[in-house]
Amino acid sequence: MFDVARVRSAYPALADGYAYLDGAAGTQVPTTVIDAIADAYRAGLGNVGGAFPASDRSGAIVADCRAAVADLVGGRPEGVVLGPNMTTLTYRFAATLSATWEPGDEIVLSRLDHDADVRPWVQAAARAGATVRWAEVDLPAGELPAEQYGSLVGERTRLVAVSAASNVLGTRPDVATISALAHRAGALVFVDGVHATAHGPVDMAALGADFYATSAYKWCGPHVGAVVVDPSVLTDLLPDKLASSPDEIPDRFETGTAPFADLAGVTAAVEHLAGLDDTATGTRRERLLSSMAAAEAHELALFQRLVDGLAAMPAVTTYGAAQRRTATAYFTVAGHTPRAVAEHLAAHRINVWNGHNYAWELTAALGIRDAGSAVRAGLVHYNDAQDVDRLLEALKQL
Ligand SMILES: Cc1ncc(COP(=O)(O)O)c(C=O)c1O
Repeated sequence: MFDVARVRSAYPALADGYAYLDGAAGTQVPTTVIDAIADAYRAGLGNVGGAFPASDRSGAIVADCRAAVADLVGGRPEGVVLGPNMTTLTYRFAATLSATWEPGDEIVLSRLDHDADVRPWVQAAARAGATVRWAEVDLPAGELPAEQYGSLVGERTRLVAVSAASNVLGTRPDVATISALAHRAGALVFVDGVHATAHGPVDMAALGADFYATSAYKWCGPHVGAVVVDPSVLTDLLPDKLASSPDEIPDRFETGTAPFADLAGVTAAVEHLAGLDDTATGTRRERLLSSMAAAEAHELALFQRLVDGLAAMPAVTTYGAAQRRTATAYFTVAGHTPRAVAEHLAAHRINVWNGHNYAWELTAALGIRDAGSAVRAGLVHYNDAQDVDRLLEALKQL
């Protein structure tokens, strides 16, 4: 059963009296994650590959972390590439993949996406002489129609990069259909799951993702990113790397020394998510699937309360109304800049984000980027009805 009071009690930061509606920009962490990081340091860590126990402990932490992230997204541990964050990893994969692109090759990007799933590919394509083709967002609904990929993808398409969910509108595109069209043309599919992962069960095979990018700080873990790759795809890729660093996958994609204690925190975050429904049973993957489904149901019920409340305010304009979306509201208030709204809410101890939130192409398409874009109030599993009601009340006092 999903019990939000029980879930909230796991997060010490939530006791500070603020309504944390900024989860889309980064979530709070439960005590188990804090303890896992502290315990790793307390136990003593060494660099990996040494002849002593502290080194073995770090090696085990890395292996456990890969297994946990693989369970979270339905991937394989040997395909889990860990790194500092999604943006850095995406630049790394863009450099690696584009090394074989040629003039006349094409890639397909979407204007729905966070810029981290856009600019690394645009810049890599420019260096290779490849052409960028754009999937457009259907406004005002904020849908990314999958059908358009039928004409966007062709025999020269090398890559399709698309988001599993927009970080501002919450739109969840039909990635499975998009991937099927891409694969029919022989293109690889890179899915940005940074926003989506926190908001429901993930199955990268069902999405058709060759690459699935995620960041643990969006799902109650530390600041660690991961790109989970189909191992058969990874085997063929040769990133720039040091002569002395490992050649095997996935290690050859990871530069430098890993933040071992933080990786222990990532595993603890996955365990925490698996226990959001405390009646869930079975393997960790099975518990993740049912817990994340329960969390999604909780978020969407709360979101309805938020959407209805915002709709009842004549001064509020909301953006996005996709059929399938995460519990992420994006809105403006007439007569107030988004920053002023966020400052007013902060004075009421309510955390929201304001601005383009790096949805660079999308906020331009919406025609709001130059005016400070909008306010984002995003729900995650630890938000409750009181958080939503406080937001609505405070907005009425603007
Ligand atoms: C949808 C989406 N993609 C990518 C990113 C970038 O992630 P990172 O901070 O791990 O580089 C974010 C961060 O906000 C995001 O929301």
